[in-house]
Amino acid sequence: MERSLLQWRLLPLLALIASLLSVFFASRSYEKETQCSLLPHDHYWISSKRILTPDGLISGSVEVNGGVIVSVVKEEDWYKEQRSRVKVIDYGEAVIMPGLVDVHAHLDDPGRSEWEGFPSGTKAAAAGGITTLIDMPLNSDPSTVSPETLKLKIEAAKKRILVDVGFWGGLVPDNALNSSALSSLLDAGVLGLKSFMCPSGINDFPMTNITHIKEGLSVLAKYKRPLLVHAEVEMDSEIDDATDNDPRSYLTYLKTRPTSWEEGAIRNLLSVTENTRIGGSAERAHVHIVHLSDASSSLDLIKEAKGKGDSVTVETCPHYLAFSAEEIPEGDTRFKCSPPIRHAANREKLWGAMMEGDIDMLSSDHSPTKPELKLLSDGNFLKAWGGISSLQFVLPVTWSYGRKYGVTLEQVASWWSDRPSKLAGLHSKGAIAVGKHADIVVWEPEVEFNLDEDHPIHFKHPSISAYLGRKLSGKVVSTFVRGNLVFGEGKHASDACGSLLLAT
Ligand SMILES: *[C@@H]1O[C@H](CO)[C@@H](O)[C@H](O)[C@H]1NC(C)=O
Ligand SMILES: *[C@@H]1O[C@H](CO)[C@@H](O)[C@H](O)[C@H]1NC(C)=O
Ligand SMILES: [Zn+2]
Repeated sequence: MERSLLQWRLLPLLALIASLLSVFFASRSYEKETQCSLLPHDHYWISSKRILTPDGLISGSVEVNGGVIVSVVKEEDWYKEQRSRVKVIDYGEAVIMPGLVDVHAHLDDPGRSEWEGFPSGTKAAAAGGITTLIDMPLNSDPSTVSPETLKLKIEAAKKRILVDVGFWGGLVPDNALNSSALSSLLDAGVLGLKSFMCPSGINDFPMTNITHIKEGLSVLAKYKRPLLVHAEVEMDSEIDDATDNDPRSYLTYLKTRPTSWEEGAIRNLLSVTENTRIGGSAERAHVHIVHLSDASSSLDLIKEAKGKGDSVTVETCPHYLAFSAEEIPEGDTRFKCSPPIRHAANREKLWGAMMEGDIDMLSSDHSPTKPELKLLSDGNFLKAWGGISSLQFVLPVTWSYGRKYGVTLEQVASWWSDRPSKLAGLHSKGAIAVGKHADIVVWEPEVEFNLDEDHPIHFKHPSISAYLGRKLSGKVVSTFVRGNLVFGEGKHASDACGSLLLAT
């Protein structure tokens, strides 16, 4: 009797001790996990007077739990519920918006990590409010054109990324006419394919012709994944007079890649996109034209194809919207990219097309290199590496240069989050809505800053960025990736806990 009484008393006590111990150990391992985040908890609310939801701007709060948005409430409904036990971070008047999804970035890793690399690239992304980026299949070494080379990418990215990262595969002559090769690359998890209609500048990434593209689309249709195309085709340049051939003059470079290069490529490309129409042989495939620069005939062709029902979208990049040929200083090869930045009148038309919705989205085309290859001291536009370094600045650049055209927060989120996430098939991203990943940027559109030496820049080679010296508006306060506060108050989380986004 006494014994059983003892048991009766001891058991609950033992159970209590056991549960206390388990809480102790759980919280210890939990503490470890939180190195992924600057916050010590994974269930919390963030509040602000300006939260951008799919239904417009609200004043209220967003509840995050376990990396996912679990509720979004307006201020007037907030007080009805008892929330005192849960942590609330009040961001005041700062804008809470879906994190940016950059569908076009070159992180050059593995193989050319002295150009960029996953750690520096994703740190820059986090500091710029980008929560997902899709890495291009070229400029790393080797290029991502097979399951084996994708595996190298995955190994290079694992545990070294602060934001979520997915991959485009390369459509190249070697795999384009071999549907089992393409299928194995798509089965391995690339979110879609990328090809060039002109030399890419990288030897192991040769250009495709229209037959390759057509065949590629028929395989992509089965996977419902897009083909991204660099649409320029080599034609005669406009340089005919040896005297107007100064390689330090930006206009010389501009003449080597006239708008006819874009127009010719797009015309050829659109000869096969009719297959993507409903009922077509490549229905469910999609063609996305990257970094459009020519806002005249090239854009007209794209509009026409869309009108006919072709599954086509187009992006441009902040540098085409911010800069113009007229203002590029002699020898300043930081501004070299292809297709080239054109005249101010073209920039106006690009902005018009953004505002009208004829251009669907933006991407960074962050395409760095090591400073030596920019030939900054020679200033030779014809020989320097083409590519603009911008990753960390795309949000303030879009906002700063767009204000004079009346850009709204809704448009910024559409161009940078909603449409790009749909292009990449990432349906858990791109909006502040219940059930979506808690990928969030908190920023202050009104706060101005100078991009000078004092500004902390996280990509590998700040000196080659064409944006240095500019004054921008729009300061990123905090960046959350799947609920982890990966960037806040100028600091990054110490562990790199971004996820790999592989298509299944
Ligand atoms: C097509 O690709 C498969 C898988 O990569 C490869 O085994 C095969 O040899 C290729 N066929 C041709 C004709 O190149
Ligand atoms: C494209 O190149 C392939 C060889 O890789 C060739 O068979 C095909 O005829 C070419 N198509 C065009 C339109 O030139
Ligand atoms: Zn690119």
